[in-house]
Amino acid sequence: MTADTHAPQVVVLAAGQGKRMRSALPKVLQPLAGRPMLDHVLATAAALDPAHTVVVYGHGGDAVRAAFDDAPIDWAEQAEQRGTGHAVQQALPHLDASGRVLVLCGDVPLLTVETLRALIGGTPADAVGVLTVRVPNPTGYGRIVRAENDGVAAIVEERDANDAQRAIDEVNTGVFVVPGDRLAGWLEKLTPENAQGEYYLTDVVAMAVAEGVSVRATLCDDVDEVMGINDRVQLAHAERAWQRRAAEALMRAGASMADPARVDIRGEVTVGEDVFIDVNVVLSGRVTIGAGTVIGPNCVLTNATVGADTTLFANTYVEDSAIGDRCLIGPFTRLRPGADFRDGSKAGNFVEVKKSVIGEGSKVNHLTYVGDAVLGQRVNVGAGTITCNYDGANKHQTVIGDEAFIGSGVELVAPVEIGRGATIGAGSTISKEAPADTLTLERARQRTIQGWQRPVKNKK
Ligand code: UD1
Ligand code: MG
Repeated sequence: MTADTHAPQVVVLAAGQGKRMRSALPKVLQPLAGRPMLDHVLATAAALDPAHTVVVYGHGGDAVRAAFDDAPIDWAEQAEQRGTGHAVQQALPHLDASGRVLVLCGDVPLLTVETLRALIGGTPADAVGVLTVRVPNPTGYGRIVRAENDGVAAIVEERDANDAQRAIDEVNTGVFVVPGDRLAGWLEKLTPENAQGEYYLTDVVAMAVAEGVSVRATLCDDVDEVMGINDRVQLAHAERAWQRRAAEALMRAGASMADPARVDIRGEVTVGEDVFIDVNVVLSGRVTIGAGTVIGPNCVLTNATVGADTTLFANTYVEDSAIGDRCLIGPFTRLRPGADFRDGSKAGNFVEVKKSVIGEGSKVNHLTYVGDAVLGQRVNVGAGTITCNYDGANKHQTVIGDEAFIGSGVELVAPVEIGRGATIGAGSTISKEAPADTLTLERARQRTIQGWQRPVKNKK
């Protein structure tokens, strides 16, 4: 029979507690690149466009289900974890016996859709397919025992293996494709007569062979891709492998990196050509970086859109904000949600901007807070200026017209409007409208007291 390339039904095993994590969080919710491990597995499964996906959950079940509340998946509870075979059995009521079943593990997050396609495509529809890998140290894994004709004869778990079997370096990744019309019958015949007293899914292999069903191994050549994560050391290793992959994808898309090992990507990042990313940059959520833009060292960007030919100097922190083309931001600038820097605008050191438009060519260069404000074009905001946007109960807006010049140390008490081309004298507290094209200042007149003497310290 020819290989069936129809989308299979997917079962994801995710009921294990993950004791070796030593964590209150269920294992499959441990984050990898900022998302739960299980989310990676589900995304890979979804890329196959499966007939449907069943997640077998158990340990920490409510938390696991809550984390994937609106995902298009069926949930099968495995109240007691009695082994991988028992886990698949819980999914049976959701499966259609006429289709093929792909079994994935919630703790194998780096698996790619290409590898799954190779497994499915390389396994005839009436055969059992197992994804295997050769590892330098097979300790802990189920070993692939080959028959004389090199076909797969059985999978033997570490604790049930003899010395000769333990020496086998080809191991089970835990990923299988099984004909749906055979699965239920085999699972029913499983017994827990083994070292762990569990119902092993892996025993299905020997049953298939005994019934004359062929078992095909598809060898994956990337060990990292199929690594099962059981503890935090493996999790950290997987994180680095994932980050290397993500950094390579960005480099191929046009971003140079000072050191690809010192950029962390925890979301969906899109880059234009000739982007440069310096060291210790963290990109989270949805981030878009335009062509020719430079991201300086220690910048943290979360849900940010950055235009072309812009520079973010060192230690710039951007959250839920947009920055246009040819902007200069930082060093040490903090953009809080809703900052909207238009083309050619600037923000300098120790400047915080929240929910504000900084119009084209406008500058906010030093030690300033701009919140709930709309700045027109070519506005200049002097050092130490503060929009007093909060009265203790409500937030109010500050509107600054084009080409206005705000002197240093100004407090703009919102709601307030500064007219187009207006100049505000340094040190002013402005709480009323400042008319266009005029100088407004609010400042006590300077006095000099002649003959005044400094106090001296009292003698004891
Ligand atoms: C399993 C395989 C082993 C393979 C290894 C690859 C079996 C018997 N062994 O061993 O051959 O080399 O994976 O990583 O299948 N799970 C449940 N319910 C259970 C038990 C497990 O949902 O009752 C889930 C776990 O959450 C996990 C997956 O199944 O996602 C694998 O379970 P785990 O305990 O990690 O199996 P291993 O000992 O690693
Ligand atoms: Mg495991």
